[in-house]
Amino acid sequence: MSRTLRAGAFLDKGGTGKTTTVAHLGVALSELGRDVLLVDLAGKQADLAKNFGVWDEYSERIEAEDDWPNVSTAFREQWGRIASKLGDEAVEGMIFETGEGPDIIPAHPGLDGLDTELNEIEDTHERYSRFDDFLTEYVEPLDYDFVFLDLPGSTNNVSYNGLWAVRNVVVPVEAGPFEARQAGRLRDDLSRISSSFDVELSLTMLVLNKTDSRTRLSAEFAEEYKQEYPEAVASAQVPRSQAIRNAANDGKTLFASDASSTTAERAREAFMENAEELLKRL
Ligand SMILES: Nc1ncnc2c1ncn2[C@@H]1O[C@H](COP(=O)(O)OP(=O)(O)O)[C@@H](O)[C@H]1O
Ligand SMILES: [Mg+2]
Repeated sequence: MSRTLRAGAFLDKGGTGKTTTVAHLGVALSELGRDVLLVDLAGKQADLAKNFGVWDEYSERIEAEDDWPNVSTAFREQWGRIASKLGDEAVEGMIFETGEGPDIIPAHPGLDGLDTELNEIEDTHERYSRFDDFLTEYVEPLDYDFVFLDLPGSTNNVSYNGLWAVRNVVVPVEAGPFEARQAGRLRDDLSRISSSFDVELSLTMLVLNKTDSRTRLSAEFAEEYKQEYPEAVASAQVPRSQAIRNAANDGKTLFASDASSTTAERAREAFMENAEELLKRL
């Protein structure tokens, strides 16, 4: 029996497409027949749940204080006791169906204070491995084929927990005036994190996102990354497409949208191709 595959989208920067990538690769993986669970550790704005239109239901629960246990509870020292008391309900109560294939564990406001709380754990192994333990002991038995984490756009104890748990990092990058020259920084960041963990993180896939075939900046940027990371760069680039934004605003991915612009079609194909490639690389 094979273990659940794990990956996480991470970059120490906001707005490059982490949430979009997790949502779309998640749906693409389920189109490929995999049972997928997406987990949002990226913070209380709960973008992943909004991207799938499940935020309204969840925020009502939060307001009614019917939101316990939630994803932040899984990081707590008392989690083991809570889980054994509640049984299967402990994890199953956190999971929502998206209607597009993947299941999702949405972010929760409780993630906010976690960085500081985890900082108080002196033993670094314990500080960084709480989420790994949760996945191994409580999520693996649910038999998902693939668990994909949406991680914060900053390095803190929550993103460290996510990285520690998955080891395989998917990084969406976006062309910008400073980006090309900073291509090398990503490797430095990952190796710095790897050495502070004493575990090896691998740059499993680097996705060039929001590319525009008409601009030189975009082409130069793609070249720079291909030279710097020939193994990691995904073969399909994801074009900048207004349809992606529109779909997100409607609480769905491009796969559930009927947008038929050239960029929308190309983006769908790119996500499908990259999902297949991701499965091969893991
Ligand atoms: N390929 C794309 N084309 C157009 N808009 C995109 C694309 N990828 C992401 N976006 C939009 O860019 C914004 C930031 O993306 P998001 O996935 O939320 O980034 P992150 O999670 O890294 O902060 C969102 O409004 C999203 O809809
Ligand atoms: Mg995000």
